[in-house]
Amino acid sequence: MNLLRKLFQLSLLLLFAIDFIPSGLLAQTHEGWQASKETIEALTKARPEVNYYEEKVPAYNLPDVLATMDGREVTSARLWNKVRRPEILELFRENVFGRVPETPCEKSFKVVNMDKYAMGGTATLKQVEITISTGGKSLVIHLTLFTPNNAKRPVPAFLLIDNRGAVNTDPSRKVKSEFWPAEEVIARGYGIAVFYNADVDPDNFDDFKNGIHGILDKYPRPDDAWGTIAAWAWGASRCLDYLVTDKDIAGNKIAVVGHSRGGKTALWAGAEDPRFAMVVSNESGCSGAALARRRFGETVSRINTNFPHWFCTNYKKYNNNEDTLPVDMHMLLALIAPRPLYVACASEDLWGDPRGSYLSLYNALPVYNLLRTNSDIPETMPPLNKQVKSGRVAFHIRDGIHNMLLKDWNWFMDMADETLK
Ligand code: GCU
Repeated sequence: MNLLRKLFQLSLLLLFAIDFIPSGLLAQTHEGWQASKETIEALTKARPEVNYYEEKVPAYNLPDVLATMDGREVTSARLWNKVRRPEILELFRENVFGRVPETPCEKSFKVVNMDKYAMGGTATLKQVEITISTGGKSLVIHLTLFTPNNAKRPVPAFLLIDNRGAVNTDPSRKVKSEFWPAEEVIARGYGIAVFYNADVDPDNFDDFKNGIHGILDKYPRPDDAWGTIAAWAWGASRCLDYLVTDKDIAGNKIAVVGHSRGGKTALWAGAEDPRFAMVVSNESGCSGAALARRRFGETVSRINTNFPHWFCTNYKKYNNNEDTLPVDMHMLLALIAPRPLYVACASEDLWGDPRGSYLSLYNALPVYNLLRTNSDIPETMPPLNKQVKSGRVAFHIRDGIHNMLLKDWNWFMDMADETLK
């Protein structure tokens, strides 16, 4: 009886004490984000063949990011840069995204419109045509760029790979969208640029006849020829070629940002082009940040079936065969190191496997730390709407559906304030 009373008193005391624990501390000791039961059930009902249950994730072993193909342990930045990084980059070219053809081409820039009093006088607008030509054929990438008028120049900038079309990225600013919140980015002292991915390659399967493929590819195409995502990433680099020539922009402080298929593209652009000073992957999911071996939400076989043009032909070998893939996506993230890397997810976007994306970032840390960036995040995910940021890596899981919102951009800029400015 006495013992029961004691226990009762103790539990009252505990309840009382919890009220006085600062909420920050509670958040830190919190379990971390979990997908809601309702979301899991609703998504499973809509697509019963897709796995959204954590307990059904198969056991897997990730390839060792720090072991060279001839079995050496990578213990120095030198070995990473000279041997292991190039090896991993090649593995991704060969097996996932494909290789850029070596066809030589010419490139020219033309500023076709300039407005020094854009956004009510707070920004300068430039519209630039980037023309790629070879063998009598050519293609134009339309780049839109705003730079702040009231900031010390040259300014750091964000380049968005737009996969949604002009309705989100209107240069006249009559139509505004949180997907590309240009006014807010300008107000924080950054330049903001965008190009439409379909300028480089239309997002449909036509056996690689249209877009940049029709200009640079040699037919028949080898099994490691670049897919559409690699083409978009290449397009981002052509935009960067212009941006580094613009005196208003700090060429060594340009972040590439992408959402979803654009997020996969941003990661590959950052891997292929070390001039990108920061990479932001928003809800990039399968074949972006999310670990393939988890087979959670979208899988390699589904993505290759629904989007047969996104990757190289070799990638199809890994349909329902993820364990034989010589890479996993933590190695793609590691290719960004030591540059700042932001991975963001949304709580209802289980198709894009938020936990797999976080674990991927977590498993890229050995490379960040080999390169002395003091990046240390726990294995447990942060709670909803709480950014976790350390050294050169950051992550958040925002509440809500698959999208990119001002809330996401504000967190990206918080990281850029610390790492780019
Ligand atoms: C599909 C696709 C995803 C992709 C997304 C998007 O859902 O399966 O891989 O990320 O489209 O680009 O919005």
